[in-house]
Amino acid sequence: MSKKSDVDCFFSPKGVAIVGASQTPGKIGHEIVRNIKLSGFTGGVFPVNPNAETVLDLKCYRNISDVQAEVDLAVIAVPAGLVEGAVRDCVKKGVKGAIIITSGFSEVGDKGLEEKVVSLARPGLRIIGPNTFGVFYAGSRLNATFGPGKVLRGKTAFITQSGALGLALMDWTTEEKYGVSAIVSIGNKADVDDADLVEFFSRDPSTSSILIYMEGLRDGRKFFEASRRAVRKKPIVVIKAGRSARGAQAASSHTGSIAGQDAIFTAAFEQAGIMRAEGMTQAFDWIQALNENPAPKGENIVIVTNGGGLGVLATDRCELLGLKPAELSNDLKQEIQAITPSFGSVKNPVDLTANADDALYGKVLDLVLRRSDIDGVIALFCQTANIDPTLVAQAMLDARARDALEKPIVAAFVGGHLSQVAYSRMLEKKFAVYPTAERAVDAMYALMARHRQLEHFKAGGGAA
Ligand code: COA
Repeated sequence: MSKKSDVDCFFSPKGVAIVGASQTPGKIGHEIVRNIKLSGFTGGVFPVNPNAETVLDLKCYRNISDVQAEVDLAVIAVPAGLVEGAVRDCVKKGVKGAIIITSGFSEVGDKGLEEKVVSLARPGLRIIGPNTFGVFYAGSRLNATFGPGKVLRGKTAFITQSGALGLALMDWTTEEKYGVSAIVSIGNKADVDDADLVEFFSRDPSTSSILIYMEGLRDGRKFFEASRRAVRKKPIVVIKAGRSARGAQAASSHTGSIAGQDAIFTAAFEQAGIMRAEGMTQAFDWIQALNENPAPKGENIVIVTNGGGLGVLATDRCELLGLKPAELSNDLKQEIQAITPSFGSVKNPVDLTANADDALYGKVLDLVLRRSDIDGVIALFCQTANIDPTLVAQAMLDARARDALEKPIVAAFVGGHLSQVAYSRMLEKKFAVYPTAERAVDAMYALMARHRQLEHFKAGGGAA
Protein backbone atom coordinates (compact mmCIF):
# COMPACT_ATOMS: atom_id res chain seq x y z
CA MET A 1 0.00 0.00 0.00
CA SER A 2 1.41 3.36 -0.99
CA LYS A 3 0.67 5.68 1.90
CA LYS A 4 -0.41 4.88 5.46
CA SER A 5 -3.44 6.59 6.93
CA ASP A 6 -4.72 6.60 10.48
CA VAL A 7 -7.27 3.87 9.71
CA ASP A 8 -4.61 1.32 8.68
CA CYS A 9 -4.44 0.16 12.31
CA PHE A 10 -7.92 -1.39 11.97
CA PHE A 11 -6.73 -3.72 9.23
CA SER A 12 -3.13 -4.66 9.87
CA PRO A 13 -2.51 -4.12 13.57
CA LYS A 14 0.56 -5.46 15.34
CA GLY A 15 -1.40 -6.25 18.50
CA VAL A 16 -5.13 -6.48 19.30
CA ALA A 17 -6.68 -6.22 22.76
CA ILE A 18 -10.21 -7.44 23.36
CA VAL A 19 -11.68 -5.44 26.24
CA GLY A 20 -14.52 -7.48 27.71
CA ALA A 21 -13.06 -10.83 26.62
CA SER A 22 -15.08 -13.56 28.22
CA GLN A 23 -14.50 -17.18 29.14
CA THR A 24 -18.14 -17.99 28.43
CA PRO A 25 -18.81 -19.46 24.98
CA GLY A 26 -21.63 -17.66 23.20
CA LYS A 27 -20.88 -14.30 24.79
CA ILE A 28 -19.79 -11.64 22.32
CA GLY A 29 -16.49 -11.05 24.13
CA HIS A 30 -15.72 -14.75 23.85
CA GLU A 31 -16.63 -15.18 20.19
CA ILE A 32 -14.44 -12.25 19.12
CA VAL A 33 -11.37 -13.76 20.83
CA ARG A 34 -12.17 -17.14 19.28
CA ASN A 35 -12.50 -15.66 15.76
CA ILE A 36 -9.25 -13.69 16.05
CA LYS A 37 -7.46 -16.78 17.36
CA LEU A 38 -8.84 -19.09 14.66
CA SER A 39 -8.50 -16.70 11.72
CA GLY A 40 -4.73 -17.13 11.50
CA PHE A 41 -3.91 -13.57 12.56
CA THR A 42 -0.20 -13.50 13.36
CA GLY A 43 -0.03 -10.36 15.54
CA GLY A 44 -0.41 -10.28 19.33
CA VAL A 45 -3.82 -11.12 20.85
CA PHE A 46 -4.50 -9.77 24.35
CA PRO A 47 -7.80 -10.51 26.14
CA VAL A 48 -8.65 -7.93 28.81
CA ASN A 49 -11.01 -8.71 31.70
CA PRO A 50 -10.37 -8.03 35.41
CA ASN A 51 -12.34 -11.15 36.31
CA ALA A 52 -10.49 -13.80 34.27
CA GLU A 53 -7.02 -15.37 34.29
CA THR A 54 -7.17 -16.78 30.79
CA VAL A 55 -9.57 -16.71 27.83
CA LEU A 56 -9.29 -19.53 25.30
CA ASP A 57 -5.84 -20.40 26.70
CA LEU A 58 -4.58 -16.86 26.19
CA LYS A 59 -3.28 -14.92 29.17
CA CYS A 60 -5.90 -12.37 30.22
CA TYR A 61 -5.00 -8.87 31.49
CA ARG A 62 -6.80 -6.91 34.20
CA ASN A 63 -6.42 -3.72 32.21
CA ILE A 64 -5.11 -2.85 28.76
CA SER A 65 -2.32 -0.87 30.42
CA ASP A 66 -0.97 -4.15 31.87
CA VAL A 67 -0.12 -5.42 28.39
CA GLN A 68 3.61 -4.92 27.90
CA ALA A 69 3.60 -5.38 24.12
CA GLU A 70 2.46 -2.85 21.52
CA VAL A 71 -1.32 -2.70 21.13
CA ASP A 72 -2.52 -0.61 18.21
CA LEU A 73 -6.09 -1.95 18.01
CA ALA A 74 -8.67 -2.54 20.74
CA VAL A 75 -12.03 -4.25 20.33
CA ILE A 76 -14.32 -2.99 23.08
CA ALA A 77 -17.17 -5.30 24.13
CA VAL A 78 -18.16 -4.14 27.60
CA PRO A 79 -21.57 -2.66 28.50
CA ALA A 80 -22.20 0.98 27.51
CA GLY A 81 -21.56 2.31 31.00
CA LEU A 82 -17.98 0.97 30.91
CA VAL A 83 -17.04 2.18 27.42
CA GLU A 84 -15.91 5.63 28.51
CA GLY A 85 -13.39 4.10 30.95
CA ALA A 86 -12.20 1.63 28.35
CA VAL A 87 -11.59 4.43 25.84
CA ARG A 88 -9.64 6.45 28.43
CA ASP A 89 -7.47 3.37 29.07
CA CYS A 90 -6.89 2.92 25.33
CA VAL A 91 -5.79 6.55 24.97
CA LYS A 92 -3.36 6.13 27.89
CA LYS A 93 -1.93 2.99 26.35
CA GLY A 94 -1.41 4.73 23.00
CA VAL A 95 -3.83 2.51 21.07
CA LYS A 96 -4.49 3.88 17.57
CA GLY A 97 -7.88 2.36 16.76
CA ALA A 98 -10.85 1.10 18.77
CA ILE A 99 -13.76 -0.92 17.42
CA ILE A 100 -16.65 -0.30 19.81
CA ILE A 101 -19.01 -3.25 19.56
CA THR A 102 -21.32 -1.96 22.30
CA SER A 103 -24.83 -0.76 21.48
CA GLY A 104 -26.81 1.87 23.38
CA PHE A 105 -25.53 5.15 21.93
CA SER A 106 -26.99 7.51 19.31
CA GLU A 107 -29.08 4.72 17.78
CA VAL A 108 -31.21 4.77 20.95
CA GLY A 109 -31.05 8.55 21.27
CA ASP A 110 -27.97 8.85 23.52
CA LYS A 111 -25.95 11.20 21.34
CA GLY A 112 -24.30 12.77 24.37
CA LEU A 113 -22.49 9.62 25.45
CA GLU A 114 -21.36 8.93 21.90
CA GLU A 115 -19.98 12.43 21.45
CA LYS A 116 -18.22 12.25 24.79
CA VAL A 117 -16.51 8.99 23.88
CA VAL A 118 -15.36 10.41 20.53
CA SER A 119 -14.03 13.60 22.09
CA LEU A 120 -12.09 11.57 24.69
CA ALA A 121 -10.52 9.59 21.88
CA ARG A 122 -9.43 12.53 19.73
CA PRO A 123 -7.00 13.17 18.23
CA GLY A 124 -4.87 10.04 18.62
CA LEU A 125 -7.45 7.24 18.74
CA ARG A 126 -9.79 6.55 15.84
CA ILE A 127 -13.09 4.78 16.52
CA ILE A 128 -15.18 2.40 14.41
CA GLY A 129 -18.73 2.20 15.76
CA PRO A 130 -20.18 2.12 18.31
CA ASN A 131 -22.88 -0.45 17.62
CA THR A 132 -20.82 -2.59 15.25
CA PHE A 133 -20.06 -6.29 14.82
CA GLY A 134 -16.42 -5.62 13.99
CA VAL A 135 -13.93 -5.84 11.16
CA PHE A 136 -12.76 -8.70 8.96
CA TYR A 137 -9.70 -8.16 6.77
CA ALA A 138 -8.40 -11.00 4.64
CA GLY A 139 -5.07 -9.25 3.98
CA SER A 140 -3.89 -9.77 7.57
CA ARG A 141 -6.18 -12.73 8.28
CA LEU A 142 -7.91 -10.74 10.99
CA ASN A 143 -11.45 -11.68 11.93
CA ALA A 144 -12.22 -9.21 14.72
CA THR A 145 -15.97 -9.85 14.59
CA PHE A 146 -18.50 -11.96 16.42
CA GLY A 147 -19.73 -13.24 13.05
CA PRO A 148 -18.92 -16.52 11.31
CA GLY A 149 -15.47 -17.97 11.93
CA LYS A 150 -14.92 -18.94 8.32
CA VAL A 151 -15.06 -16.27 5.65
CA LEU A 152 -14.09 -16.87 2.03
CA ARG A 153 -11.36 -14.60 0.74
CA GLY A 154 -12.38 -12.55 -2.29
CA LYS A 155 -11.87 -9.22 -4.01
CA THR A 156 -14.61 -6.97 -2.64
CA ALA A 157 -14.44 -4.77 0.42
CA PHE A 158 -17.89 -4.61 1.96
CA ILE A 159 -18.77 -1.68 4.21
CA THR A 160 -22.08 -2.08 5.97
CA GLN A 161 -24.12 0.20 8.16
CA SER A 162 -26.40 -2.66 9.11
CA GLY A 163 -24.84 -5.14 11.48
CA ALA A 164 -27.28 -7.98 11.12
CA LEU A 165 -27.31 -7.70 7.34
CA GLY A 166 -23.53 -7.67 7.29
CA LEU A 167 -23.37 -10.72 9.55
CA ALA A 168 -25.78 -12.59 7.31
CA LEU A 169 -23.83 -11.56 4.22
CA MET A 170 -20.56 -12.77 5.74
CA ASP A 171 -21.98 -16.29 5.63
CA TRP A 172 -23.77 -15.76 2.36
CA THR A 173 -20.73 -14.52 0.43
CA THR A 174 -18.92 -17.68 1.49
CA GLU A 175 -21.86 -19.89 0.55
CA GLU A 176 -22.21 -18.20 -2.85
CA LYS A 177 -18.44 -18.40 -3.40
CA TYR A 178 -18.07 -14.63 -3.87
CA GLY A 179 -15.72 -14.07 -0.96
CA VAL A 180 -14.64 -10.69 0.37
CA SER A 181 -11.35 -8.88 0.91
CA ALA A 182 -12.82 -7.11 3.93
CA ILE A 183 -16.02 -6.54 5.83
CA VAL A 184 -16.42 -3.48 8.01
CA SER A 185 -19.47 -3.04 10.17
CA ILE A 186 -19.45 0.71 10.44
CA GLY A 187 -22.23 1.04 13.04
CA ASN A 188 -23.16 4.57 14.10
CA LYS A 189 -20.17 6.13 12.27
CA ALA A 190 -19.38 8.32 15.26
CA ASP A 191 -15.84 8.81 13.96
CA VAL A 192 -14.55 6.60 11.12
CA ASP A 193 -17.00 6.91 8.26
CA ASP A 194 -17.57 5.57 4.75
CA ALA A 195 -15.22 8.19 3.29
CA ASP A 196 -12.26 7.08 5.44
CA LEU A 197 -12.86 3.48 4.41
CA VAL A 198 -13.38 4.22 0.72
CA GLU A 199 -10.03 6.04 0.77
CA PHE A 200 -8.34 3.09 2.50
CA PHE A 201 -9.80 0.42 0.21
CA SER A 202 -9.04 2.42 -2.92
CA ARG A 203 -5.36 1.94 -1.97
CA ASP A 204 -5.70 -1.65 -0.76
CA PRO A 205 -4.04 -4.06 -3.22
CA SER A 206 -6.23 -6.99 -2.15
CA THR A 207 -9.45 -5.09 -2.99
CA SER A 208 -10.75 -4.78 -6.57
CA SER A 209 -14.16 -3.27 -5.83
CA ILE A 210 -16.00 -1.57 -2.98
CA LEU A 211 -19.56 -2.38 -1.95
CA ILE A 212 -21.41 -0.22 0.56
CA TYR A 213 -24.71 -0.79 2.32
CA MET A 214 -25.71 2.68 3.42
CA GLU A 215 -28.65 4.10 5.33
CA GLY A 216 -27.45 7.65 5.68
CA LEU A 217 -24.42 9.93 5.58
CA ARG A 218 -23.16 12.34 8.19
CA ASP A 219 -20.71 14.15 5.96
CA GLY A 220 -21.90 13.87 2.38
CA ARG A 221 -19.29 16.21 0.93
CA LYS A 222 -16.40 14.18 2.41
CA PHE A 223 -17.89 10.92 1.16
CA PHE A 224 -18.54 12.09 -2.37
CA GLU A 225 -15.10 13.66 -2.67
CA ALA A 226 -13.39 10.48 -1.47
CA SER A 227 -15.53 8.41 -3.84
CA ARG A 228 -14.81 10.65 -6.80
CA ARG A 229 -11.11 9.95 -6.32
CA ALA A 230 -11.59 6.24 -5.58
CA VAL A 231 -13.69 5.39 -8.67
CA ARG A 232 -10.76 6.30 -10.88
CA LYS A 233 -9.07 3.20 -9.46
CA LYS A 234 -11.91 0.84 -8.51
CA PRO A 235 -15.67 0.63 -9.00
CA ILE A 236 -17.92 1.50 -6.07
CA VAL A 237 -21.39 -0.02 -5.80
CA VAL A 238 -23.84 1.30 -3.22
CA ILE A 239 -27.04 -0.16 -1.87
CA LYS A 240 -28.73 2.86 -0.37
CA ALA A 241 -31.66 1.94 1.81
CA GLY A 242 -34.46 4.21 2.89
CA ARG A 243 -35.75 4.96 -0.61
CA SER A 244 -39.33 5.18 0.55
CA ALA A 245 -40.62 7.50 3.29
CA ARG A 246 -41.27 4.53 5.57
CA GLY A 247 -37.86 3.04 4.77
CA ALA A 248 -36.23 6.35 5.69
CA GLN A 249 -38.08 6.33 9.00
CA ALA A 250 -36.89 2.78 9.70
CA ALA A 251 -33.29 3.76 8.91
CA SER A 252 -33.53 6.60 11.39
CA SER A 253 -34.47 4.30 14.27
CA HIS A 254 -31.98 1.64 13.17
CA THR A 255 -28.70 3.55 13.12
CA GLY A 256 -29.82 7.09 13.90
CA SER A 257 -29.30 8.03 10.24
CA ILE A 258 -31.02 10.80 8.42
CA ALA A 259 -31.81 9.15 5.11
CA GLY A 260 -32.41 12.43 3.31
CA GLN A 261 -34.24 12.89 0.06
CA ASP A 262 -33.65 9.92 -2.12
CA ALA A 263 -33.51 11.81 -5.40
CA ILE A 264 -30.66 13.94 -4.05
CA PHE A 265 -28.70 10.80 -3.21
CA THR A 266 -29.34 9.33 -6.64
CA ALA A 267 -28.01 12.46 -8.35
CA ALA A 268 -25.01 12.70 -6.04
CA PHE A 269 -24.08 9.04 -6.55
CA GLU A 270 -24.25 9.54 -10.29
CA GLN A 271 -22.10 12.65 -10.18
CA ALA A 272 -19.47 10.91 -8.08
CA GLY A 273 -19.39 7.91 -10.43
CA ILE A 274 -20.87 5.53 -7.86
CA MET A 275 -23.11 2.76 -9.19
CA ARG A 276 -26.34 2.56 -7.23
CA ALA A 277 -27.87 -0.92 -7.13
CA GLU A 278 -31.55 -1.58 -6.51
CA GLY A 279 -30.81 -4.17 -3.86
CA MET A 280 -28.58 -7.02 -2.80
CA THR A 281 -29.07 -9.29 -5.80
CA GLN A 282 -28.23 -6.62 -8.31
CA ALA A 283 -25.32 -5.33 -6.25
CA PHE A 284 -23.68 -8.74 -5.98
CA ASP A 285 -24.38 -9.52 -9.65
CA TRP A 286 -22.62 -6.33 -10.66
CA ILE A 287 -19.75 -6.84 -8.27
CA GLN A 288 -19.17 -10.38 -9.47
CA ALA A 289 -19.00 -9.24 -13.12
CA LEU A 290 -16.73 -6.31 -12.29
CA ASN A 291 -14.37 -8.43 -10.20
CA GLU A 292 -13.94 -11.23 -12.70
CA ASN A 293 -13.77 -9.31 -15.97
CA PRO A 294 -11.94 -6.47 -17.61
CA ALA A 295 -14.15 -3.57 -18.64
CA PRO A 296 -15.12 -3.82 -22.32
CA LYS A 297 -13.02 -1.70 -24.70
CA GLY A 298 -16.06 -0.72 -26.77
CA GLU A 299 -19.83 -1.10 -26.90
CA ASN A 300 -20.29 -4.07 -29.25
CA ILE A 301 -21.91 -6.95 -27.43
CA VAL A 302 -22.76 -10.35 -28.82
CA ILE A 303 -25.26 -12.81 -27.36
CA VAL A 304 -24.62 -16.53 -27.96
CA THR A 305 -27.40 -18.94 -27.01
CA ASN A 306 -28.80 -22.41 -27.63
CA GLY A 307 -32.35 -21.18 -26.94
CA GLY A 308 -34.10 -18.63 -29.16
CA GLY A 309 -36.35 -17.54 -26.31
CA LEU A 310 -33.43 -16.81 -23.99
CA GLY A 311 -31.83 -14.81 -26.77
CA VAL A 312 -34.98 -12.71 -27.19
CA LEU A 313 -35.27 -12.08 -23.44
CA ALA A 314 -31.63 -11.06 -23.33
CA THR A 315 -32.08 -8.72 -26.32
CA ASP A 316 -35.09 -7.06 -24.69
CA ARG A 317 -33.12 -6.51 -21.52
CA CYS A 318 -30.18 -5.10 -23.49
CA GLU A 319 -32.49 -2.59 -25.18
CA LEU A 320 -33.98 -1.56 -21.86
CA LEU A 321 -30.55 -0.96 -20.33
CA GLY A 322 -29.06 0.84 -23.32
CA LEU A 323 -26.70 -1.96 -24.36
CA LYS A 324 -26.07 -2.45 -28.05
CA PRO A 325 -26.12 -5.98 -29.43
CA ALA A 326 -23.62 -5.58 -32.29
CA GLU A 327 -24.44 -5.85 -35.97
CA LEU A 328 -22.22 -8.80 -36.89
CA SER A 329 -19.92 -8.37 -39.86
CA ASN A 330 -20.43 -10.61 -42.89
CA ASP A 331 -17.17 -12.48 -42.49
CA LEU A 332 -17.98 -13.31 -38.87
CA LYS A 333 -21.47 -14.46 -39.90
CA GLN A 334 -19.92 -16.73 -42.53
CA GLU A 335 -17.47 -18.21 -40.06
CA ILE A 336 -20.29 -18.97 -37.63
CA GLN A 337 -22.55 -20.24 -40.40
CA ALA A 338 -19.91 -22.73 -41.46
CA ILE A 339 -20.04 -24.57 -38.14
CA THR A 340 -23.65 -24.14 -36.95
CA PRO A 341 -26.82 -26.00 -38.02
CA SER A 342 -28.53 -24.44 -41.04
CA PHE A 343 -31.66 -23.81 -38.94
CA GLY A 344 -29.71 -21.69 -36.46
CA SER A 345 -29.27 -17.93 -36.66
CA VAL A 346 -26.07 -16.08 -37.31
CA LYS A 347 -27.59 -12.73 -36.48
CA ASN A 348 -27.18 -11.31 -32.99
CA PRO A 349 -28.31 -13.17 -30.84
CA VAL A 350 -26.39 -16.03 -32.37
CA ASP A 351 -28.69 -19.02 -31.96
CA LEU A 352 -26.74 -22.27 -31.95
CA THR A 353 -30.04 -24.19 -31.55
CA ALA A 354 -30.87 -27.00 -29.15
CA ASN A 355 -28.43 -29.21 -31.06
CA ALA A 356 -25.50 -27.19 -29.76
CA ASP A 357 -22.99 -29.19 -27.77
CA ASP A 358 -19.98 -28.12 -25.77
CA ALA A 359 -17.68 -28.34 -28.81
CA LEU A 360 -19.86 -25.92 -30.79
CA TYR A 361 -20.06 -23.48 -27.87
CA GLY A 362 -16.28 -23.61 -27.60
CA LYS A 363 -15.72 -22.93 -31.30
CA VAL A 364 -18.23 -20.08 -31.56
CA LEU A 365 -16.96 -18.44 -28.38
CA ASP A 366 -13.42 -18.62 -29.77
CA LEU A 367 -14.61 -16.96 -32.97
CA VAL A 368 -16.31 -14.04 -31.25
CA LEU A 369 -13.74 -13.57 -28.48
CA ARG A 370 -10.88 -13.16 -30.90
CA ARG A 371 -12.64 -10.48 -32.96
CA SER A 372 -11.56 -6.88 -32.56
CA ASP A 373 -15.08 -5.74 -33.55
CA ILE A 374 -16.67 -7.54 -30.58
CA ASP A 375 -16.18 -6.06 -27.10
CA GLY A 376 -18.10 -8.39 -24.82
CA VAL A 377 -19.97 -11.69 -24.83
CA ILE A 378 -23.14 -12.85 -23.11
CA ALA A 379 -23.22 -16.67 -23.31
CA LEU A 380 -26.57 -18.26 -22.50
CA PHE A 381 -27.42 -21.91 -22.02
CA CYS A 382 -30.81 -23.60 -21.71
CA GLN A 383 -30.67 -27.12 -20.34
CA THR A 384 -31.79 -29.76 -22.86
CA ALA A 385 -31.92 -33.55 -22.47
CA ASN A 386 -29.21 -34.14 -25.08
CA ILE A 387 -26.43 -31.95 -23.66
CA ASP A 388 -24.65 -32.12 -20.32
CA PRO A 389 -24.52 -28.53 -18.94
CA THR A 390 -21.29 -29.25 -17.08
CA LEU A 391 -19.55 -29.90 -20.41
CA VAL A 392 -20.85 -26.60 -21.78
CA ALA A 393 -19.63 -24.90 -18.60
CA GLN A 394 -16.20 -26.39 -19.17
CA ALA A 395 -16.25 -25.22 -22.79
CA MET A 396 -16.98 -21.66 -21.61
CA LEU A 397 -14.22 -21.83 -19.01
CA ASP A 398 -11.77 -23.09 -21.62
CA ALA A 399 -12.75 -20.41 -24.14
CA ARG A 400 -12.26 -17.74 -21.49
CA ALA A 401 -8.86 -19.18 -20.62
CA ARG A 402 -7.82 -19.16 -24.31
CA ASP A 403 -8.91 -15.51 -24.48
CA ALA A 404 -6.75 -14.83 -21.38
CA LEU A 405 -9.38 -12.47 -19.99
CA GLU A 406 -8.97 -9.96 -22.79
CA LYS A 407 -12.72 -9.51 -23.19
CA PRO A 408 -15.53 -9.61 -20.67
CA ILE A 409 -17.76 -12.66 -20.78
CA VAL A 410 -20.79 -13.35 -18.61
CA ALA A 411 -23.03 -16.41 -18.74
CA ALA A 412 -26.42 -17.72 -17.70
CA PHE A 413 -27.30 -21.36 -17.07
CA VAL A 414 -31.03 -21.96 -16.99
CA GLY A 415 -32.33 -25.37 -16.00
CA GLY A 416 -32.47 -28.04 -13.32
CA HIS A 417 -30.02 -29.89 -11.16
CA LEU A 418 -27.25 -30.34 -13.74
CA SER A 419 -27.41 -26.67 -14.64
CA GLN A 420 -27.00 -25.90 -10.96
CA VAL A 421 -23.92 -28.11 -10.84
CA ALA A 422 -22.50 -26.35 -13.91
CA TYR A 423 -23.33 -22.96 -12.39
CA SER A 424 -21.57 -23.80 -9.11
CA ARG A 425 -18.50 -25.06 -10.93
CA MET A 426 -18.25 -21.83 -12.89
CA LEU A 427 -18.68 -19.74 -9.76
CA GLU A 428 -15.86 -21.67 -8.14
CA LYS A 429 -13.70 -20.82 -11.15
CA LYS A 430 -14.61 -17.15 -10.74
CA PHE A 431 -16.72 -16.95 -13.89
CA ALA A 432 -19.50 -14.34 -13.75
CA VAL A 433 -22.46 -16.70 -14.13
CA TYR A 434 -26.15 -16.20 -13.34
CA PRO A 435 -29.33 -18.28 -13.21
CA THR A 436 -31.26 -16.11 -15.68
CA ALA A 437 -30.53 -14.36 -18.96
CA GLU A 438 -31.75 -11.04 -17.55
CA ARG A 439 -29.26 -11.15 -14.70
CA ALA A 440 -26.43 -11.95 -17.11
CA VAL A 441 -27.41 -8.88 -19.16
CA ASP A 442 -27.53 -6.77 -15.99
CA ALA A 443 -24.00 -7.92 -15.24
CA MET A 444 -22.86 -6.84 -18.71
CA TYR A 445 -24.61 -3.53 -18.11
CA ALA A 446 -22.37 -2.97 -15.04
CA LEU A 447 -19.29 -3.72 -17.13
CA MET A 448 -20.44 -1.33 -19.84
CA ALA A 449 -21.10 1.38 -17.25
CA ARG A 450 -17.52 0.92 -16.06
CA HIS A 451 -16.27 1.09 -19.65
CA ARG A 452 -18.10 4.36 -20.21
CA GLN A 453 -16.75 5.76 -16.97
CA LEU A 454 -13.15 4.84 -17.81
CA GLU A 455 -13.53 6.34 -21.29
CA HIS A 456 -14.83 9.51 -19.69
CA PHE A 457 -11.77 9.66 -17.41
CA LYS A 458 -9.47 8.99 -20.36
CA ALA A 459 -11.05 11.89 -22.19
CA GLY A 460 -10.08 14.09 -19.25
CA GLY A 461 -13.49 14.19 -17.55
CA GLY A 462 -14.13 14.16 -13.81
CA ALA A 463 -16.27 11.55 -12.09
CA ALA A 464 -19.69 10.74 -13.57
N1 COA B 1 -12.71 -4.35 31.44
C1 COA B 1 -12.77 -5.51 30.74
N2 COA B 1 -13.73 -6.43 30.90
C2 COA B 1 -14.67 -6.17 31.82
C3 COA B 1 -14.68 -5.01 32.57
C4 COA B 1 -13.64 -4.08 32.35
N3 COA B 1 -13.56 -2.93 33.04
N4 COA B 1 -15.72 -5.04 33.43
C5 COA B 1 -16.39 -6.20 33.17
N5 COA B 1 -15.73 -6.86 32.21
C6 COA B 1 -16.06 -8.16 31.63
C7 COA B 1 -17.20 -8.86 32.28
O1 COA B 1 -16.77 -9.49 33.50
C8 COA B 1 -17.63 -9.83 31.22
O2 COA B 1 -16.84 -11.00 31.22
P1 COA B 1 -17.33 -12.39 31.88
O3 COA B 1 -18.25 -13.02 30.90
O4 COA B 1 -16.06 -13.11 32.06
O5 COA B 1 -17.99 -12.01 33.16
C9 COA B 1 -17.33 -9.08 29.95
O6 COA B 1 -16.53 -7.97 30.32
C10 COA B 1 -18.58 -8.56 29.27
O7 COA B 1 -19.36 -7.86 30.20
P2 COA B 1 -20.89 -8.26 30.47
O8 COA B 1 -21.38 -7.36 31.56
O9 COA B 1 -21.05 -9.71 30.66
O10 COA B 1 -21.56 -7.78 29.15
P3 COA B 1 -22.23 -8.63 27.98
O11 COA B 1 -21.24 -9.52 27.36
O12 COA B 1 -23.49 -9.22 28.43
O13 COA B 1 -22.61 -7.44 26.98
C11 COA B 1 -22.02 -6.15 25.12
C12 COA B 1 -21.62 -6.56 26.52
C13 COA B 1 -21.05 -5.13 24.59
C14 COA B 1 -22.03 -7.36 24.21
C15 COA B 1 -23.48 -5.54 25.18
O14 COA B 1 -23.48 -4.45 26.07
C16 COA B 1 -23.95 -5.02 23.86
O15 COA B 1 -23.80 -3.85 23.53
N6 COA B 1 -24.56 -5.91 23.06
C17 COA B 1 -25.03 -5.56 21.70
C18 COA B 1 -23.88 -5.61 20.73
C19 COA B 1 -24.36 -5.39 19.34
O16 COA B 1 -25.41 -5.88 18.96
N7 COA B 1 -23.60 -4.59 18.57
C20 COA B 1 -23.99 -4.24 17.24
C21 COA B 1 -23.87 -5.38 16.33
S1 COA B 1 -24.30 -4.99 14.74
